[in-house]
Amino acid sequence: MRDVTLRSIFEHRITQKYVKRAGMSHAIAVAYHAFNLSKEYRVNPDLATKAAFLHDIGHYTWYRDGKWDYELYKKNDIHAIKGAERAHKLLIRLGEHPEKAKKIALAILLHTDSYLPKGELDLEPLQKIVARADEMDEEPGGNHHYRTIDDEKARSRISKLDQKIDEELHQYNEIANH
Ligand SMILES: [Fe+2]
Ligand SMILES: [Fe+2]
Repeated sequence: MRDVTLRSIFEHRITQKYVKRAGMSHAIAVAYHAFNLSKEYRVNPDLATKAAFLHDIGHYTWYRDGKWDYELYKKNDIHAIKGAERAHKLLIRLGEHPEKAKKIALAILLHTDSYLPKGELDLEPLQKIVARADEMDEEPGGNHHYRTIDDEKARSRISKLDQKIDEELHQYNEIANH
């Protein structure tokens, strides 16, 4: 069994507040993409899905005169930094192992390079997965952030993914232990 399930993360008020702000539908879609990619990359699906689900938890809404200001966002945004810290705090509170919480936080920190100086980053597979899964769900003009999903549907998609992770973890651990 895992220390912390996606469902317990989903139910937390911090997740409800901040993941919803960046788009719950997007977060769930990215978690599913990351789950599929984790098999391809042979990465722990528990870490990949948690990092993916929480990757945009650091979003701040950049408004000017009551409207989202994309220019302002591009210029000032640090959502990956804020998100890494916020997700780490949440995971530790929920009882996640500190080693896992750190790996997840790092993958969130590096899921985008838009705020970093130019240059090549040598990403680890877990970090690549989250960045790729995010791109897979991207829509022009940032529309993926505005797609909505009702709470019941979100909850059932999350629970279903939890089941898939538990099944996949058996196999992942088998391979890792040999
Ligand atoms: Fe992001
Ligand atoms: Fe995203």
